[in-house]
Amino acid sequence: MSKVKEKNLQLVNDYFDKLSLEPSLSEEEFKGLLEKDFWQLSNDFQLAREKVTVENQEEVYEIKNSNLDFSLAVAKSLADFYKQYCNWFISINRQSPSRILDIGCDNGVLTCFYAYIYPEAEVIGVDKSEAGIQCAKQLAMKLGLTNIDFQQADFHKLNEIFPFEYFDFVISVRTLHEVMRSIPVPIYWSYEDVLNNRPLHMDTYYMKVIERLITKDGEYFSTERLENPAAVGQWAKLLKDADLQLDWSTTNFINFHENGKPNKMPVIVANKKESKFSIIDGLKYLYTRDQNLMLKEHTSFKSVAAEVVFNDISSKNIEIGYFLTLNHEWYKMRFEIWKTEEYFLIYGSGNMGYRQLEIMPVDDYVKAKNKLEKLIERYKTQSEVERYSNIKERDLIEKNLI
Ligand SMILES: C[S@@+](CC[C@H](N)C(=O)[O-])C[C@H]1O[C@@H](n2cnc3c(N)ncnc32)[C@H](O)[C@@H]1O
Repeated sequence: MSKVKEKNLQLVNDYFDKLSLEPSLSEEEFKGLLEKDFWQLSNDFQLAREKVTVENQEEVYEIKNSNLDFSLAVAKSLADFYKQYCNWFISINRQSPSRILDIGCDNGVLTCFYAYIYPEAEVIGVDKSEAGIQCAKQLAMKLGLTNIDFQQADFHKLNEIFPFEYFDFVISVRTLHEVMRSIPVPIYWSYEDVLNNRPLHMDTYYMKVIERLITKDGEYFSTERLENPAAVGQWAKLLKDADLQLDWSTTNFINFHENGKPNKMPVIVANKKESKFSIIDGLKYLYTRDQNLMLKEHTSFKSVAAEVVFNDISSKNIEIGYFLTLNHEWYKMRFEIWKTEEYFLIYGSGNMGYRQLEIMPVDDYVKAKNKLEKLIERYKTQSEVERYSNIKERDLIEKNLI
């Protein structure tokens, strides 16, 4: 490991040690920890969470941030996320910014991290929750940070409070979905189709508020649960409409666990410079940059890599397909065998983003069929299955005309 990497890791570890913020490893452990030390508050918090809607989210934050100790105890379920996020943030090695704004700072765990690693910068955290702001102020005091300030403010007032082009970094982590009330998750068979043909169901206004706050050479760091590549593409489209371009080479994913459950989130960086990538090329690059996409017998691809490789093969014919409608969900899936001169392509795709491509030798149809059966197996019992042998039939099944 390089010296810089080692130093960065140490800095992040030291910060989390100072907070005593260790991740909880299971749902039971997390609940147990809260109940042991904060019995009443943890009950109130649980009740508030059960009846939460987009309209009354404030109550959950008010209870969670009743005091800093309880707020940090609740943060244990996300401690691994915070740590992996901070590891990524420090790894991108940006020169010291002058001003940083953290929108939706809550109890300040991340805002204080920015102030900790950039002691020369002026860091401001804003949140609409007064309780969150109080906790954040206490946390900054506990950590002895003097380059940080917190203000209660609604997102919609930010352009009135701060001058235009004031911040080198504007950051929002898991906040915009609340500000915007939700971020749509596209249902899709092809992300190219989503990006080329579907209207954007999000308002550019939100990104424009952010764009105005950033200096000419500044950057916007956004982290949201964007569930599939089409959602990431739509986010890039939203940014572009507000004159912010994705920096595809810095944008990445972080892997973490939430109470022991594995999870993954994109960490997106945008700026005001010209981008050399179209959004479609950017997505391809983001999702396949570490992979070898060469066609070879007995190789397999997943996610965007599977979709890209499959689409790039121009000369192919469908042999057989199965359309699965899952009983208890809106999920629909297709499992198909396609034939090229050299290969059988076994392609599984779902309208929620699932993609799987297996490359098999063209001389053994039985083996290809077995592979197809294997892919279908785990979904078959919970689905209605319909068979087709060409795209026209598939379209009719999909439109429910057969
Ligand atoms: C899920 S929390 C994320 C907090 C923190 N960034 C983190 O990752 O732990 C979302 C935060 O956004 C704040 N928030 C929601 N809507 C807001 C708005 N319109 N203006 C300012 N803050 C808002 C909430 O109060 C809450 O603290």
